[in-house]
Amino acid sequence: MGLSQPHGGTLINRWNPNVPYQSITKAIELDDIALSDLELIGTGAYSPLTGFLCKEDYESVLHNMRLTTGEPWTIPITLPATETEAKSFSIGDQIKLIQNGVVYGVMDVADIFVVDKDKEAKYVYKTTDIQHPGVRKLAERPNIFVGGSITLVRRLQNEYSTYYFDPIDTRKKFQQRGWKTVVGFQTRNPIHRAHEYIQKTALETVDGLFLHPLVGETKKDDIPPDVRLESYEVLLQNYYKQEHVFLGVFLAAMRYAGPREAVFHAMVRKNYGCTHFIVGRDHAGVGNYYGTYDAQKIFDHFTHEELGIVLLFFEHSFYCKQCENMATSKTCPHDLEHHVILSGTKVRELLRKGGRPPKTFSRPEVISVLINGLKKEVKTS
Ligand code: ADX
Repeated sequence: MGLSQPHGGTLINRWNPNVPYQSITKAIELDDIALSDLELIGTGAYSPLTGFLCKEDYESVLHNMRLTTGEPWTIPITLPATETEAKSFSIGDQIKLIQNGVVYGVMDVADIFVVDKDKEAKYVYKTTDIQHPGVRKLAERPNIFVGGSITLVRRLQNEYSTYYFDPIDTRKKFQQRGWKTVVGFQTRNPIHRAHEYIQKTALETVDGLFLHPLVGETKKDDIPPDVRLESYEVLLQNYYKQEHVFLGVFLAAMRYAGPREAVFHAMVRKNYGCTHFIVGRDHAGVGNYYGTYDAQKIFDHFTHEELGIVLLFFEHSFYCKQCENMATSKTCPHDLEHHVILSGTKVRELLRKGGRPPKTFSRPEVISVLINGLKKEVKTS
């Protein structure tokens, strides 16, 4: 087995800093989600996409969870435009993609279309509830989308450069390490014992673990990426074999689309070279919008051949005081009262009050980093 083939067969590269754009007059202002999407299309993380979706692909993604060419694709990657911007463009135009006056890309406009955001919300998020962070974000964006191929002309500056690798780089890194099988792990949280347990269980059967935390836009009460990165570092130094783990960041925004986002996360990690991908309990979920294992069941809609990556599904895992071990309902015969289960909200509350979650929930080194991070947050707010 070698590293996985990119989704659609070819790793897309749409980065060209030498494209002349100075004479282009029309422009569209990107929000943070679109800016990170532009970067990820340009570097091939979103292969086979070569640009923002046109209407036909957009509809196909909503209705069939596939691109019109047939590849599985579950999250619409779209570029919203204001009415004034959209009125100034015509199909066939070249436009600049800018944020705060800086040009990041160029697009060949192939489509301009108005969407029904309620319909998108129902398909993608399975709810139109404005309390859902993904639905809220969708509601805040304009409902006119511009589709077409892009060229990335300027890379996104980010504060995580030591951890930032393009798919072509991670593929090289994995090969240099002699890894033939690599399991990808998505997270927007600090790594707790349950995460560590499923990662290491997976690692027992593959060569390497690609720890790929998402550091793009998240909801406000998620732990900020800089604190998380520090927590990953202490964890890796103290509890992981350096030769078998690789840490990189994923610049995408979190959609909180649960099942659909799990498929998207898997396809993207395939582009980074992963042969396996972990989906545990309520992957990319928020609140009670999705069932605990919906993000696993959704993969039944696709064949293994079209996915091109091995999914590793894990049950809800926890520490059991009777087993004196990490376990799941598959491996532990004891009652709930013996299980250490804490929600993210509970943990944040406890930390804010100066408390420390038990060692059975999180490594003490990680807790110390989180407590310091919270102190800094309080000082700066
Ligand atoms: S996510 O939004 O990025 O998916 P999180 O960082 O909490 O959230 O989860 C990362 C991965 O670990 C996901 O695949 C999730 O399903 C899995 N996971 C989180 N907690 C547990 C748990 N207690 N048991 C099993 N899997 C879990």
